[in-house]
Amino acid sequence: MSRVPLRQALADVPPYVPGARVPVGSAAYKISSNENPFPPLPSVLVAISDAAADVNRYPDMYATELVGAIAESLGVASESVVTGCGSVAVLGHVLTAVCEPGDEVVLPWRSFEAYPIAITLAGGVGVPVPVGSDGRLDLEGMAAAVTSRTKAVLVCTPNNPTGPAVRADELATFLAAVPSDVLVVLDEAYVEFVRDAQAADGLAVFADHPNVVLLRTFSKAYGLAGLRVGYAVARPRLAAGIRVASTPFGVSHIGQLAALASLRASNELMVRVDQIVVDRTRMLAGLRKQGWSVPDSEANFVWLPLGDQASSFAERAGRAGVLVRPFAGDGVRVSVGEPEATDLLLEVTADWLAR
Ligand SMILES: Cc1ncc(COP(=O)(O)O)c(C=O)c1O
Repeated sequence: MSRVPLRQALADVPPYVPGARVPVGSAAYKISSNENPFPPLPSVLVAISDAAADVNRYPDMYATELVGAIAESLGVASESVVTGCGSVAVLGHVLTAVCEPGDEVVLPWRSFEAYPIAITLAGGVGVPVPVGSDGRLDLEGMAAAVTSRTKAVLVCTPNNPTGPAVRADELATFLAAVPSDVLVVLDEAYVEFVRDAQAADGLAVFADHPNVVLLRTFSKAYGLAGLRVGYAVARPRLAAGIRVASTPFGVSHIGQLAALASLRASNELMVRVDQIVVDRTRMLAGLRKQGWSVPDSEANFVWLPLGDQASSFAERAGRAGVLVRPFAGDGVRVSVGEPEATDLLLEVTADWLAR
């Protein structure tokens, strides 16, 4: 009997490995998925429960009110904002909107593990450019990897999982070298955690470069990972193309109203972000004091370049009650979560060095 053939490209799609989850009834800390450790604000919970009363209806397909509020908060036109089911879905829509089969997409590696998946599913071919041993993107190498076959370049800043942010001067040099008909996606999922004064300002870069698209999310600083709301900021023509490629009704009504309430409460939420940044500084300093060599981080996570020992470190951390994210053979990413999780992690890292 013949079987339904699957698309050939699926064989090349690497699996997305989610961060370990806390087993029911266990007391472990989950710092494996770069989530926000704070529960939703009371005002956001009210918006969520009010919205729940309307779930027999489809949501506003274009998330009009949320799009307007995002646009106002960023100082861009509403036509430039496209929402979707998390920025990971929006990335897929962006690539689907521009890639013809076989087009090349330059990406840093190691970087966000969804990139190779999204590129392949959009019909593109990934061209990975190694991240430096300091965890920084090699923008010069990425510019050099652009050819006449390149349709897009992904720039992750800060880079997940290594941590550093791209500097304004290096991004300016990079953009000057990349042809203006190549799309440059600046993935700013962690932008609210950036404190480096030299870091690139995505909105300013967007204003000056029609080929730049920004990706942002409510999952991290805004603490709505479970509701799946992300968006792209693009010139109206590109944004219209991304909308065409988007899943209809991609953001639920609950997600739209929760994101709106979170934007309204952004002052309160940014106080929490400041607390996470303080704990990031404490984690980095604690690790370095113990003798670890770790890259700077401008995000809500820190990279331990453990190489071959990544998986055994993660196992040991898990046994000690702290779930981290290993990338086998490469390193371990630890998110900045509850201060108690940082305390426990620092005990594990000290024990590891003393073993
Ligand atoms: C760099 C980067 N971009 C995008 C995302 C996707 O976030 P979401 O789909 O939750 O908006 C993540 C999530 O981990 C990320 O690390």
